Amino acid sequence: MSPHLKLCQIAIPKFFVRLMPDLLTCSAMKPINNLFKTPQGDFKLVRFPQHKKETLRAWDAADEYLLQYLEAEGKTSTNNAPRILIVNDSFGALAMALQTFKPDVQLDSCLAEQGLINNFQLNNIDLVNITLLNSMMPLNGYYDLVIIKLPKSHAYLEDILYKIQPHINPQSKIIAAAMAKNIHSSTLKLFEKIIGKTTTSLAKKKARLIFSSFTNNKVTNSPYPKQFELEVEDNTFLITNYANVFSREKLDIGTRFLLENMPQPKPYKAIVDLGCGNGLLGLVAAQQNPEARVIFTDESYMAVASAKINVENAFGTSRTAEFLVKDCLAGVEKQSVDLILCNPPFHQNHVVGDHIAWQMFNEAYAALEPGGEFWIVGNHHLAYHSKLKKIFGDYNVVASNKKFAVMLSRKA
Ligand SMILES: C[S@@+](CC[C@H](N)C(=O)[O-])C[C@H]1O[C@@H](n2cnc3c(N)ncnc32)[C@H](O)[C@@H]1O
Repeated sequence: MSPHLKLCQIAIPKFFVRLMPDLLTCSAMKPINNLFKTPQGDFKLVRFPQHKKETLRAWDAADEYLLQYLEAEGKTSTNNAPRILIVNDSFGALAMALQTFKPDVQLDSCLAEQGLINNFQLNNIDLVNITLLNSMMPLNGYYDLVIIKLPKSHAYLEDILYKIQPHINPQSKIIAAAMAKNIHSSTLKLFEKIIGKTTTSLAKKKARLIFSSFTNNKVTNSPYPKQFELEVEDNTFLITNYANVFSREKLDIGTRFLLENMPQPKPYKAIVDLGCGNGLLGLVAAQQNPEARVIFTDESYMAVASAKINVENAFGTSRTAEFLVKDCLAGVEKQSVDLILCNPPFHQNHVVGDHIAWQMFNEAYAALEPGGEFWIVGNHHLAYHSKLKKIFGDYNVVASNKKFAVMLSRKA
C-alpha cells in the first residue's frame, strides 16, 4: 500500500439511494415464458445478455399495468396519434408495444439498448419505427405523452425530469411505471417539484403508476453533471459525474480501497478500467503508468461520458485513451491487455446477483495476455475469491480491511 496516498473529496450533497432488489414477476422455479401479452399485441421478449438458464423475464408487472392503462384510457388511440417519448425502457417492452406511434426511446444502458434491438428483430419489427436516443443525446420537439420506466437511481430520475421540461407543455401527460416498493414519498416529491401536480394509481400485481402534469410550467436546468475534487498523492483531480453514474456524489469506499492499493507502476502496455463508472481507477492508473494505452469501458453512456471528461480534464491533449460503451469486455480483443482493474457491479438495474461479476471475470481472463493481471476490489460477503480461483486457478489477497479485499489473479 502506498504510504503517501491521501484521498479526500469535497462538495458532497447526499441523496437517498436505494439498493433493494426488485425481483421481476416470474417464479425462479418455473420455466420462463417469454411471451409478453399486451393489449397492443403479443411479443416474444428476452433479456440481454441472454443466459442459458434465465430465470427472469424481460418485463415486469409495471410494464403490463402501464400498457393496460394506456389502452383502457384511449391514450394511444390512433385518432390521437400522440407524439411519445419512452425513457429507460427495459429490453424494449414498452417500445415494442407502442411502436405504431413511432416513439422516441431514450436509454442510458447499452444492455437495455441491445436487448431492445434484439427483441425487435426477434419479432420481425422494423427498427425504423422508433428513434433510439442514448442518454447523452438531446431530446427533440414537444411530446404529448412521456412514459418513464422508473430508474433505480433517484439522481437519474431527477435529471430525466429536468431534461423533459423543455419538451412538454401543460397538456402533455407524464406517466411513470414501477413496482410499488420502488416508489417512495421522495420519488413523488421529485415529480411534484420538477413537473407539477402528481397522483398515483392503485397498486396492481404490486405495480403502481405515477401521473404528473406540467403545472409548474417553469423550465430549470438539470443540476447534473456534478463535480467533486479528489486528491491522490500530489494531484488534485476534478471529477465530473453525470446523473446515472455510480457513486456520483463522492468517492466509493471500495474504489478508495483499490486506489490505496493500486499495482506498482511497471511497463504495462495496455490497461483496462472495466465497469469504469467515472473512470477514477483508469485515470489514476494512466497517471501512474504514463506509457500505457488505457481503455475505459462501461455499459452506461453517462458513465463513459463522465470518464472521458475526467481524462480530458486531467491530461488535456497530452494523453489519449479509448472509451467504449459496451457489455463488459465486448470491445476488447482477446489476449490483448496486461492489466485490468475492476470494482464489479452487483446489480443490473433492480436485479441483484453475481451474474455480471461472473461474466466480467471470464471475459477478463480471455482479454488478458499470459502473465496479465486482474485486480479487483470487493466486499468480503460477495466472496469473489472463489470465482477468481475457479476461473484463474489462483488469487492473492493484496490488502484487506473489515469490509473489503483487493485481490489479484494472474493469467497463467
Ligand atoms: C461498482 S461500479 C464501479 C464504478 C467505478 N469503477 C468505480 O470504482 O467508481 C460498477 C460499474 O460497472 C458498470 N457495469 C454494470 N454492468 C456492466 C456491464 N455488463 N458491462 C460493463 N459495465 C457494467 C456499472 O455501470 C458501473 O459503472
